[in-house]
Amino acid sequence: MEIVPLTGGLGAEILGADLKDVDQFASIKKAFIDFSVITIRSQEITPDDLLQFARQWGEINVNRFFSKLDSHPEIAVVLKEADQTGAIGEEWHTDHAYDHAPAMGSILHAIETPPYGGDTAFCSMSAAYDALSDGFKSILDGMYAWHSSRHVFGQSQAETDASKSGRIGNADQAVQDALHPVVIKHPLSGRSGLFVNPQFTIGIDGLSKAESDAILNMLYAHCQKPEFQCRVRWKNGDVTMWDNRATWHKAINDYQGFRRYMNRVTIEGCPLNAA
Ligand code: SIN
Repeated sequence: MEIVPLTGGLGAEILGADLKDVDQFASIKKAFIDFSVITIRSQEITPDDLLQFARQWGEINVNRFFSKLDSHPEIAVVLKEADQTGAIGEEWHTDHAYDHAPAMGSILHAIETPPYGGDTAFCSMSAAYDALSDGFKSILDGMYAWHSSRHVFGQSQAETDASKSGRIGNADQAVQDALHPVVIKHPLSGRSGLFVNPQFTIGIDGLSKAESDAILNMLYAHCQKPEFQCRVRWKNGDVTMWDNRATWHKAINDYQGFRRYMNRVTIEGCPLNAA
């Protein structure tokens, strides 16, 4: 197995691995802790193989809002048909930030990729935190932020392309709100990292909207620096797993007119502690 870093900020490709081989799991897990995003290239796997790999990480979280694979309801379908315009996950986000115990990670298996485009971009929340000044780090120290599913998956989203096409549903179940530290101590690596994101974070606890917006918008602009990013270019059969407590991600919707189909499994996480 060969592990090749994608950038200096985060991410690695894993070549020559077989995720069906349980003896390789320890090496894959180490790469995941070191790089936060791992792309295991060229896997020949069934949905059962994907679930067997996923269960080695922990309990599977069945996403409330995504449509599911009929034969394997623990697998969420991330699909954009050739005639659909909106992709799922186009805004920078952290999966399940609205849960009290946000998901530890998500695993995406590329079944059908477009001839170009459709990459997934990632940002490192620990690299972004490390690059802040000591003065700003001390301002963030002790702050908590609210996160919610309501404005993303609730009734107000019923008119989106993904909702109308049935790829996203259960708007009545979008009732989650959670308070997390703005700077967390990562449960696996122990590194300090930011835990706020543009899609699900709704405000910093105890601040006015103007104060909260000023801090969050500053952090969002900072986090999007290319130095903290990597981009996964997909081929059919690739499997990418990312750490939700250490990254943001975003589906790049630049392949209009082509189909893109992925299977996704999400792994349960734990409540987050302040750094
Ligand atoms: C997601 O946000 O889970 C989807 C990412 C992607 O399709 O690239």
